[in-house]
Amino acid sequence: MIENTYLSELLIDEIADALQQCGYIQLQEFLPESLATQLQQEAKSLSSSAFKPAGIGRQNDLQLNTQIRSDSTLWLDDKDAGEGKAKAQAHYLQFMEQLRIGLNRRLFMGLFDFECHFSHYGDGDFYKRHLDAFKGRSNRILSTVFYLNDNWQKSAGGELVLYADEQEAPLLVVAPLFNSCIIFLSDVFPHEVLRSNSDRFSIAGWYRVNSHCATHLDPNQ
Ligand code: OGA
Ligand code: MN
Repeated sequence: MIENTYLSELLIDEIADALQQCGYIQLQEFLPESLATQLQQEAKSLSSSAFKPAGIGRQNDLQLNTQIRSDSTLWLDDKDAGEGKAKAQAHYLQFMEQLRIGLNRRLFMGLFDFECHFSHYGDGDFYKRHLDAFKGRSNRILSTVFYLNDNWQKSAGGELVLYADEQEAPLLVVAPLFNSCIIFLSDVFPHEVLRSNSDRFSIAGWYRVNSHCATHLDPNQ
């Protein structure tokens, strides 16, 4: 049973302040524990059959490039699990929707929607240094990564490393610990996932602005 997916106003204040001041925030104990646990179970049970090798780019431009990333992904949806029961992923989308509204109220970011996928990195998988968005060329504004790995050991690798602009030196090294989350401006921080030596699950997501216009239809995912 997932009891509540209420996101406190205080937490939204904290996230908004950090984004304004330094462009990123790292949070522990992000979700109610029961929701994090169910997401972890959902990710594990779906990973063997439903996850697909991850691509780079979007829809028509989608390319498989295993030199750059080697994880597998599955987009979340809010369809129910049958018998009218919402899946944990639907609750996650609800939670992130509250954050979208809260950030728009505080920062006037005009965030229009949120899309996210589960990722599975198996032994040896990685995602080389990249930006999630290029200035003026993408509608991805804010990146979120939520982690689903309990008892993560240093020897398991798989850290997310965040850089400031072109800098070589890491700004932040993030262990993919259960129920922790990192949120950062998509076009500001290049980042990479170091080689993982163990099964590693996360949910990578993006808040987007609406860039539909008469001559250009921006596709989902
Ligand atoms: C991504 C990404 C980071 C992670 O999917 O774009 O950077 O820690 N993921 O899983
Ligand atoms: Mn990324």
